Amino acid sequence: MEKKQHGDLTAGLLDDAPVAVDNPVKVQDLTFRDGHQSLFATRGRTEDFIPIAEDMDRVGYYSMEVWGGATFDTMHRFLGEDPWERIRTLKKYIKKTPFSMLLRGQNLVGYRNYPDDLAEAFVDRACENGMDIFRVFDALNDFRNFETAVKIIKKHGKHFQGAICYSLTESRMGGAVYNLDYYLRKAKDLEDMGADTICIKDMAGLIAPYDAFVLVKALKESVKAPIHLHSHFTSGMADMSLLKAIEAGVDIVDTCLSPWAYRTSHPAVEPLVAALRCTSRDTGFDLKLLARCSEYMEKISPKYRHLLDDRMSIIDINVLLHQTPGGMLSNLVNQLREMDALDKIDEVFRQLPIVRRELGQVPLVTPTSQIVGIQTVNNVLFDSPQERYKMITAQVKDLCYGLYGKTAVPIDPEVQKKALKGYPRGEQPITTRPADVLDPELGKAEADVQGLAKDMDDVLIYALYPTTGKRFLRWKYGHEEIPREVKTKTLEEVKTEEELVRKAKAGLLVEKCVKDAPEKGAGARTFNVFVDGEFFQVDVEQVGGAPVITSIVQAPQPTAVPQAAPVAAPTMVSVPPPPPKPAAAPAPPAAQPAPPAARPAAAAPVGGTSIEAPMPGMIIRYEVGEGASVNEGDVVLILEAMKMENSIASPVSGTVKKINFKDGDTVQKGDVLAVIG
Ligand code: CO
Repeated sequence: MEKKQHGDLTAGLLDDAPVAVDNPVKVQDLTFRDGHQSLFATRGRTEDFIPIAEDMDRVGYYSMEVWGGATFDTMHRFLGEDPWERIRTLKKYIKKTPFSMLLRGQNLVGYRNYPDDLAEAFVDRACENGMDIFRVFDALNDFRNFETAVKIIKKHGKHFQGAICYSLTESRMGGAVYNLDYYLRKAKDLEDMGADTICIKDMAGLIAPYDAFVLVKALKESVKAPIHLHSHFTSGMADMSLLKAIEAGVDIVDTCLSPWAYRTSHPAVEPLVAALRCTSRDTGFDLKLLARCSEYMEKISPKYRHLLDDRMSIIDINVLLHQTPGGMLSNLVNQLREMDALDKIDEVFRQLPIVRRELGQVPLVTPTSQIVGIQTVNNVLFDSPQERYKMITAQVKDLCYGLYGKTAVPIDPEVQKKALKGYPRGEQPITTRPADVLDPELGKAEADVQGLAKDMDDVLIYALYPTTGKRFLRWKYGHEEIPREVKTKTLEEVKTEEELVRKAKAGLLVEKCVKDAPEKGAGARTFNVFVDGEFFQVDVEQVGGAPVITSIVQAPQPTAVPQAAPVAAPTMVSVPPPPPKPAAAPAPPAAQPAPPAARPAAAAPVGGTSIEAPMPGMIIRYEVGEGASVNEGDVVLILEAMKMENSIASPVSGTVKKINFKDGDTVQKGDVLAVIG
């Protein structure tokens, strides 16, 4: 039989004769990680993967991505699942197919650079627990942030996949920074580091099909390591880009089972398998087997549907217009909405490329997309014609100091100087590998959870996520009951809740009561909802910027009609009075809803200069106490908004006369945080 050439994809379809498959496309499945991370805020539960795990193992995937990214965070925080246990459990069912994970370089599976001792311990435990392939990336494409992880991966004889974040400054690959040369240079760097495979990580779905063709072809000609393409469907181009990359000779591509594909997720595997049939790059996969797996995913998907963006369109046209990741856009819109400034969105879009350039033309991926986006919002809202960068977030200061690594182009010197004025680590930026300036943390973490943590896996959960990690360990060892909203639900329960959510979304949110709930994480709120005369407590949380309902608990109704509750001016929320306690009666069998914590008065009763919250957020800490004297410009408190920390300074010199909130409190825009007299 005549051997067909790679690009000769139509051969065999015309004469219906089998074609020699000389180079089948290898496929990695992402359903158990990036699929639900992209569509359902990473809420996929292990119990929902087990029933098809063995079938998935039979498909013939190159690998299955089952861990890393946000899974570690959400599992211990929201699902009450031990993240390490997921690897071990799935390994029992998936014996042939290698496991892969997404590792955020020195950020591991968190959102900041961790010191080397933590990075070494984490990668070591991931290897020991059964991880085979490590897809390592860095938001700045600064591969010095890979060094520690790669050392441990290699020590264990595991597979190091070096990923390059795909970024653009205009609508197509090219320009002064993210051009073909840039990617080829980065790929060579990875090969020099010993990368077993090289991944183009197109996290925002920006890669255009013909750019994918040009890029893959050039990479295949200049590096030996197999090339892997990861592209999100967000803009609607990913199917086409995969096909063009396949024509150009890409070795491995990423897909999901169809029910968890498309939208901000990935191309579906089934159409790709069908499209490549009888070509020289036929995957050889059994479509019937895949259909069976997908049918199962379809069946359990109602459990997650409430987390899905419910717009009609499955593509986000804004990504095509602005080349910014979809998640980042929804964050910006949310932030502006909370500030009552949605009309400024066009100005944000106008300034975004300027701020990004000033901050070193960084790729826009977690966490840099958030850092650039929120700083742009701050600039649009707070800058004056006389002064730019009036409110600089702590994360931008860290970026300017060099704590994230080296940016693609130098940071604007003016902005850098302003950001580093009074910066605690020093006013001169570093040029070394960021982790070189970080102190070890593992010893302290071990000491902190002594008696609670049973092994290094436990210690690492705490070390990476101190607050929620410790709470999880308390759940795990029965020191604390797992809250209802964390426990798993049946399909039936989910359907009932879905109906409630539908009603709530239809405008039946009668009472908007923001309860201080720092233990639920930043941005988490509890709403008291009345639907058809029944009372529910609904937890809403900001996931990737979009509000997501995380739990609904039916509760006995407070007696007072909430709208009639006296609203204590000038607070922005009304609080229903607690239910009356029946005098001398036995305690009611059903738990009464906890009365929402009364929020501190937000008025400024004493004379002096009020410091008002410039934005809604959570108070991280007050830097001064009542009675302290402050100079104009001194930081009074740190306010967190959209996961970014803002220093709020005193506009005058004087004495702190009043502090109205405490650390961890949630505040609204305009609340008086402190009074200086
Ligand atoms: Co991805």
